Amino acid sequence: MDAEVKMEPSLEQVISWVKEAAAMAQEMRGEDLQVRHKSKADLVTAADTAIEAFMIEKIQTHFPGHSVNAEETGQHEGDNDHEWFIDPIDGTLNYAHGLPQYAISVGYAHKGELKLGVIANPPMQEYFYAEAGKGSWLNGKPIRVSETSELIDSMLITGFRYNLLDTPRSNINNFIRLAHEVQTVRRLGSAALDLAYVACGRVEGFWEIALNPWDVAAGILLIREAGGIVSTLHGEGHLLKGSVDILAANPVIFPKLQTILDEEHAKSL
Ligand code: IPD
Ligand code: CA
Ligand code: CA
Repeated sequence: MDAEVKMEPSLEQVISWVKEAAAMAQEMRGEDLQVRHKSKADLVTAADTAIEAFMIEKIQTHFPGHSVNAEETGQHEGDNDHEWFIDPIDGTLNYAHGLPQYAISVGYAHKGELKLGVIANPPMQEYFYAEAGKGSWLNGKPIRVSETSELIDSMLITGFRYNLLDTPRSNINNFIRLAHEVQTVRRLGSAALDLAYVACGRVEGFWEIALNPWDVAAGILLIREAGGIVSTLHGEGHLLKGSVDILAANPVIFPKLQTILDEEHAKSL
């Protein structure tokens, strides 16, 4: 086996770390959350900090020199051929309020290509995971995106950044427009789970403005490996760098959403 291959993690290894992290999140939910405000609706709890430290310690022990992009501690410089994306708790507001819609999301990319993605929803004991070229699973069962082909039969999910609400990028106009075109649009509060739900066909599509690579890395691979399409909104920007505007859906619904969101975008210019 060549040395390069040995430097890469296995899916089983990442799943086992995420399972340990999920148990930490559940346990710490019953303790003092130690909520700290980064801003009005941007919170950090003791669990965010502890889970991120746990994951980074695992990576640095097993794969010293890999680079890590994690929400709470930022960029840990290393070999950019091996890059990890960690959101220790995605949906911290839900977590802090005691709502069970939150996730742990870990993605790994080799030479810029996503290779592994694991997303856990601890309260539901749901583990979504994917490996490039091999498929996507939920708790051991293969998953696929939905086969729904009409917008009117589609359920979508989106999200809103509180600090964009009064700006042209608020996403409110997109929400209003699509609410008229589809069955319904939900706002659940964890982008990682939103993407996982597209991957397993619970919903047909998801879009959001101004996410971060750690919110989406694992979910992108899950959806692609489950037969769905993911791209930046309006073809601008990058999915794994900087601020991420994202659209994800099953392959029939994707172009329909893209057309509508492009129309709304053109009106806002
Ligand atoms: C947030 C969640 C939410 C999305 C926000 C994210 P966090 O992540 O994914 O669904 O609407 O834009 O920031 O802060 O809970 O990790
Ligand atoms: Ca997040
Ligand atoms: Ca987070």
